[in-house]
Amino acid sequence: MYVEREAGRGEETLQERRDAAQNDSRILGHVVQCDGARARIAAFADTADGIVTGMWTVGKLVSISLPEARTVGLVYEVSKPDSIWCEDGRNPIEVSVELVGEVRDDRITGKPVFDRGITTYPYVGAVSHRIRSRDLAAVYDLAGRPAVTIGQLSQDETIHANIAIEDTLTRHFAVVGTTGVGKSTAVSLLLRKAIESQPDLRVLILDPHNEFSTAFPDHCVRIDTASLDLPFWMFRLEEFAEVLFRGRETVAEEVDMLRDLIPLAKNLYRNPNANQQLRRGGDSVTADTPVPYRMADLIKQIDERMGLLDSKGDRPTCRSLKTRLEAVLADPRYRFMFNSRLIEDTIHETVGKIFRVPHHGRPITCFEMAGLPSEVVNAVCSVLARLAFDLALWSNGKLKLLVLCEEAHRYMPADSRLGFAPTRHALSRIAKEGRKYGCYLGVVTQRPGELDPTILSQCSTIFSMRLSNHQDQAIIRSAIADSSASTLSFLSSMGQREAIAFGEGVATTMRLKFERLPQSQIPGVQKVDSGSSIGDGDDIDLAGIVERLRNVPRPQPQTVGIGELVSPVSQAGEATYRKPGFGEMMSGRRNDR
Ligand SMILES: Nc1ncnc2c1ncn2[C@@H]1O[C@H](COP(=O)(O)OP(=O)(O)OP(=O)(O)O)[C@@H](O)[C@H]1O
Ligand SMILES: [Mg+2]
Repeated sequence: MYVEREAGRGEETLQERRDAAQNDSRILGHVVQCDGARARIAAFADTADGIVTGMWTVGKLVSISLPEARTVGLVYEVSKPDSIWCEDGRNPIEVSVELVGEVRDDRITGKPVFDRGITTYPYVGAVSHRIRSRDLAAVYDLAGRPAVTIGQLSQDETIHANIAIEDTLTRHFAVVGTTGVGKSTAVSLLLRKAIESQPDLRVLILDPHNEFSTAFPDHCVRIDTASLDLPFWMFRLEEFAEVLFRGRETVAEEVDMLRDLIPLAKNLYRNPNANQQLRRGGDSVTADTPVPYRMADLIKQIDERMGLLDSKGDRPTCRSLKTRLEAVLADPRYRFMFNSRLIEDTIHETVGKIFRVPHHGRPITCFEMAGLPSEVVNAVCSVLARLAFDLALWSNGKLKLLVLCEEAHRYMPADSRLGFAPTRHALSRIAKEGRKYGCYLGVVTQRPGELDPTILSQCSTIFSMRLSNHQDQAIIRSAIADSSASTLSFLSSMGQREAIAFGEGVATTMRLKFERLPQSQIPGVQKVDSGSSIGDGDDIDLAGIVERLRNVPRPQPQTVGIGELVSPVSQAGEATYRKPGFGEMMSGRRNDR
């Protein structure tokens, strides 16, 4: 192995060698050129016996010994200037390194301490050699910050790759990389470590491929539209309009009418006996205030408006709006919004269930969105991200929430004309201000080039896995504050599980290999395995698939409606998920609409 392990404390670096009998000149290099950021080292590719050492390879850190300190350099190019290979073992090479920082031995403790930046530059003739493992550990030392281990250094697998978990979470993080390199697996590893080290942390995963729940069987609850209760009155007007207009361009007149009529419906719900004048009330209820109202009242208001003599011109708008409302009310895909009839009673339950308060040992919520229409995803993500921020804000720092966005370029695309503006606003609000209130953002994307650059710039720690696209590489390169641009030239050639971590969460830009997770903890794996068996593929349940495509439930006697209170510890799909007794109890109040 390339790292010198035997070196003791305070030992003279010049004496470092693997084998005392080995010729010094063949394992050491000498600086032959140096500028402000880089140096060139003359060395040998092989020993005197003609054995190729493989010691100088791209991506490794080396030391340059100076009287006061040991300068650390990152090898980014190795060449043999004459391009000729001599079999008899005399092969001088040129090694180009980028200067990363300096290691000094602490005067009192004798421990090596790393410092970014160079105070003394290597002189021509200075000796360069492999780095000691203690020095290597010092380069990535977190200086006492609470750390968790997420893998090993690529350079030396005996050294743990540690990140400062608090800084990584609170200052937001991003995981980027092309498909299949292990982003989701890395994120599930990070989340595991995060909830282990911060038991009061809650996590909401916006999971577009329904894969994360298999990775946290004991720590998460799944929510899909069948088990989600998110009453329509918690939506803001533009979120509601997104659903109402099915993600298409809205009609301004109809939205204006909603803006007028929703507050009336809200006041009507609060003061059922109020007359028209009071209903208009001067109070501050707006179409965006999250107070309950009934759809029936809203439709009644539209009818009334249609009947008014002076509103002849509004009638087509009223008619169209009413048709739209009735269509979404009848659409089974929106049951989760409109079947919540336990209006006021469920708000705490709804919020508590989604954001795990109390968490009953399951602090992670996987919001499964595969197969949902995009307008629903847009609107619901917007509501959830908004709620997350507001909850953290109003809990006065008691509630710590991490919102993790898989495929984040879908919600926050670089092109501001794409995507749904309220979702983008809600998430960028978390990115910009969330840290102060305990609401954090985790971003996962295959295409950093398509992600809103302001979001990426708010992520203080970035784990970049293999990236093959030039534009994506350029984005990451520009995001790195410290110079190690050479590190990034490795972006296109990294292996699976490998990542370059940089930013607040690590001491120095670090090339690491994430821990190997057991099959049972890899996102999405169990789901595929349990459903598939080795065969000729004739056992596929087409009828079941078509049923799902239609998204219409089979007619069955329904004793309990969607929207009832659920046990906070049970999961969707479990037999005891909904409490029948409670539903029956409440059925007397079902005449709302
Ligand atoms: N840390 C790991 N331990 C064990 N296996 C891993 C690890 N990381 C990745 N793998 C393997 O790589 C496969 C792909 O990983 P993963 O699904 O996390 O990739 P991804 O980057 O999220 O892909 P996509 O962009 O398509 O979502 C996994 O199914 C697993 O077999
Ligand atoms: Mg993935």
